[in-house]
Amino acid sequence: MTTVQMIATPDEAARKAKESTLLSPRFYTTDFKAMDAIDVSPIRAEWDAMMAEYEGDNNHDHFQRNELFAKEVSEVFSQVSPELRKEFLEFLITSVTSEFSGCILYNEIQKNISNPDIKALMRFMARDESRHAGFINQSLKDFGLGLDLGGLKRTKAYTYFKPKYIFYATYLSEKIGYARYITIFRQLEANPDKRFHPIFRWFERWCNDEFRHGESFALIMRTQPHLLRGGNVLWIRFFLLAVYATMYVRDHTRPMLHEAMGLDSTEYDYKVFRITSEISKQVFPVSLDIDHPAFRAGMERLFRIQCGIDRAKARGGLIGKIQQAGWAVAGAATFARLYLLPVNKHALPVQVRVAPAW
Ligand SMILES: [Fe+2]
Ligand SMILES: [Fe+2]
Repeated sequence: MTTVQMIATPDEAARKAKESTLLSPRFYTTDFKAMDAIDVSPIRAEWDAMMAEYEGDNNHDHFQRNELFAKEVSEVFSQVSPELRKEFLEFLITSVTSEFSGCILYNEIQKNISNPDIKALMRFMARDESRHAGFINQSLKDFGLGLDLGGLKRTKAYTYFKPKYIFYATYLSEKIGYARYITIFRQLEANPDKRFHPIFRWFERWCNDEFRHGESFALIMRTQPHLLRGGNVLWIRFFLLAVYATMYVRDHTRPMLHEAMGLDSTEYDYKVFRITSEISKQVFPVSLDIDHPAFRAGMERLFRIQCGIDRAKARGGLIGKIQQAGWAVAGAATFARLYLLPVNKHALPVQVRVAPAW
């Protein structure tokens, strides 16, 4: 029998949240002057309609737990296996970290600019992400593993991204976040017996926030058309692949989580890719050919390589280090081959916004 390395203390949870690996969620900072200079007048009508939605705040009462929540945790979640418990807790920690990452970035931008349109938008998005992070953190607190978000903000490393990288990466992570949450919600809506924790009930209204955040970045990018053509298309391809590959590898290291929901990690990921690719046509002139056999084989290889890296790390010592370096080279080569695969091209629609119809 294998023993499960359980995250057992708040310190271990904090260490997990602070991790800076290729796969862990990061905290970002950017060029505030450039953010201040964004001019939304070319898309004013769509912008104002979106801001009215933020103002309406239809989720203001959503992120509160009811009595049923605690009951379900004690009756249903207490029954799960130690392996599933471990994967679920890790899932909560990475989720709270990425929600909080958005909260910090939007809040920092908001504090450092005076452009009224962007300032108002960033304030609304920080509001939403802070609710999301706080809501997940409550579930970690149920197990005595609540993260000290203030401490995390002070001590986790920050990555500087130029505004255009923020737009590509954040747009994608919002839309993929939507696709992930809605796919899980629909699966558990159809199979309520597989809902092993009450938090999944909250995902439907929750993911509409993420969808709207993505819409905001889509509109911002459409105000700067040069970001969506020419050499920048190479960056778009890079971010599409980086975001998809990270998700694929991370999800495949948590097979129990999906299995417990009645999902296969590979099928789940491709469903999420399909939804994200469909949505991202609103703003990206290319999408990855996710059905290409070489794409699928490459993703699988990236996962195998990650397993090799984990084994080498566990082994440690000089041999472990050399093995890790070998796997890293293999990983970079696989990523490069995936990057060079042909992509699908699309013309951008006149109307930017799409509806969360999944
Ligand atoms: Fe969020
Ligand atoms: Fe979001």
